Parts: sequence; structure tokens; C-alpha cells
Amino acid sequence: MRLGQPRVRACVRSIQPYQPGKPVEEVERELGIRGAVKLASNENPLGPAPLVIQALKQAAGLAGVYPDAGCYYLRQALGQHLKLRAEEIIIGNGSDELLVLLGLALLEPGDEVLTSQMSFVVYYSVPRLMNAKLIAVPMRNYQIDLEAMARALTRKTRIIFIANPNNPTGTVVAPGSLRKFIEKVPGKCLVVLDEAYYEYADSRIMGQTPDLVRERKNVVVLRTFSKAYGLAGLRIGYGVAPKIIVDAIERVREPFNVNHLAQIGARAALKARGHMRQSVELARAERSRMGKALAGMGFKTVPSQTNFIFAQAPIRDSQKFSVDLMREGIIIRPFAGSHVRITMGTRVQNDKMIRAVKRVLGNYIN
Ligand SMILES: Cc1ncc(COP(=O)(O)O)c(C=O)c1O
Repeated sequence: MRLGQPRVRACVRSIQPYQPGKPVEEVERELGIRGAVKLASNENPLGPAPLVIQALKQAAGLAGVYPDAGCYYLRQALGQHLKLRAEEIIIGNGSDELLVLLGLALLEPGDEVLTSQMSFVVYYSVPRLMNAKLIAVPMRNYQIDLEAMARALTRKTRIIFIANPNNPTGTVVAPGSLRKFIEKVPGKCLVVLDEAYYEYADSRIMGQTPDLVRERKNVVVLRTFSKAYGLAGLRIGYGVAPKIIVDAIERVREPFNVNHLAQIGARAALKARGHMRQSVELARAERSRMGKALAGMGFKTVPSQTNFIFAQAPIRDSQKFSVDLMREGIIIRPFAGSHVRITMGTRVQNDKMIRAVKRVLGNYIN
């Protein structure tokens, strides 16, 4: 008998696996360096609030039982926080999971998913997973081009993913143009406003998007505890959604998708408002300081509303540049051509990054 092998769906084979970076410890070991600084994944350099760490320590004993499958207390807390009803809130194992669950719940083969080029990587894998068609509209000057997206709407468009602020460019769309765009979208097409970096942005620019969820019924707003709340390692994100979507997510999600510690950590994080504010103030101050420092070294920086800076570096090959920086103990994220994305660390980490960039650029010139 000939041995066969399991057949993986063609659409799954078309998905590029996520390329995990090496653990920092491994990079240090391989390069024989110490104290490497990772500025590549838009994490919060302050980490979780002390109140969160305390709550997590106290909750460690709960690891033996299944978590609350309904995230009851966290939904209540988020409801209060957002001045919404708990029933309007969805919670996932990171907002990543919510993006996938929305695809699972809504997409039929051949449906279209509309998004922007140069945006968050999961928007490109969700349609592939569901055998749907990805339409990614070019950006305009590093901004999501809502007018072009409106022109790309068809009868088959089922989901629109908009990262606002956008990752990796750090730019935002103005609330007026967002509202105008949403008004053009037919009711049967879901607009997903992914606000993973909401807290870092100027609130006057961001507006009150959960209001749009109530008004339009075809809008979902996603946020996360991974960034300004410093809980990336716990994996927890949430969304505000109309009833039909809340109901659909309940059907497709795994029952215990959000673990105990994530639920407890997130509740404590909502109480630790001072820590969140401090994290946001640090990122805002550093993106302005680092923006100037990088521009002074010939980088063309894109104005950012997030905890990172996207820029065109004064080099030809961002891959080589990032490897050279890694040898100096600085890990950043290279993008196409000479583009790079640098997460804002602490003042000390960022100063180290600037010194390393200077040294690497100096070697290029010499
Ligand atoms: C735009 C955007 N959306 C969603 C996510 C996923 O966040 P989470 O950690 O909640 O899965 C990220 C993470 O980097 C992001 O940049």
C-alpha cells in the first residue's frame, strides 16, 4: 500500500506563515551581545501595571480550572468603561482572533474582502483562509485612501478592514472622511474599524467610533489590551459589535478562547488608569523626540499617531540595515525597499537605538 499524506486545503497553502522573530535571548547568544533591545513588535516598554502583576500573581492558582467562557466580569467592566451594555462587547484571544472569527462567521467562498495595501498582515490572510478574494487598495502618501476604497466596493464586498491608526504606517483617517465612507457602504457589508492603537492617537482625530456601531449596524470597532495596556503576552482584545455579529461570534468561537489570566489581567488593567496614561505619554513624547532625531539622520518619517514610527531610511536595503542594527543590539522591523518601522521604547532604549543607527549609517558612508 502506498503511503499518502493528508491533503491541506489549497487556500491554506496559499497563506504565508507568520515569520516569528527569534527570541531576544537567542539573538544575543548568536551574536555574542548583551542587553539587546526589541523595538520590532509595537509592545509597551513599560509592560503591565504593578496592579496587573499583583492580580496575576494572586490568580495563578486558577490555572487548574477552565476560565469563565462568557468573560462575564470583564464584559461588565468594559461595558462600564465604554458606557455600553456588556452584550455589545466581544472578547478574543487577542484582537487577531476576533479578525479571524469575523472572517469565519461572514465569508463565503468568492466573497470579497476590501482593505488597504501596507496594512495589518492578518487582513490579508483572513480572505485566503476563507477562499474569499482580497482587494487591497493602494495607499495615498502613506494614508489609507478611503475614496479609492469606496470606488473598489462591489456587490461581493462582505468585509472591509480599516486599521485606524494604521499599522505599519502610523497614520489615521479623519473622522469626517471615515463617516462619509461608511455611509457609502451597503448594510450587508461589515466595516471593521481596527483601533489597536486607539489610546495613542489624538482623541479629537479619533472621534467616538462605538457610536457608529449603534448608528450603522454594520460596523465593528476592535481594540486591544496588547499595546497601551501592556498585556501583549496575555493575548486579549475586544470589540464593540452589533447584535447580529455578537451572536455570530458566539457561534464560531472556541468556548474557552480567553484564558483566566487574560481576563483578570485585563480587568486590573482597566483600573490602572495612571499606568495606561503614563504609557501613552511616554510613546507620544518619544515619537516626537525620535521623529526629530531620525529626521536629523536623513530618515523620511511619516507622522505617527501610534507607539511606533514608520520611515524611509537613508539606505537602500532595509533588510540589510536591520541585520546591521541587530549586531548593534537593536531589533527593528524592516519593510519593503528602504522602509522601516521602529517601536518607541523607553528613553534609554531609544537613545541606544539612535546611537546604533548613527554607527550603522556611519559604516555605510565610510
Ligand atoms: C492594527 C493591528 N490590529 C490588531 C493587532 C493584533 O493585536 P492583538 O495583540 O490584540 O492580537 C495588531 C498587533 O500588532 C495591530 O497592529
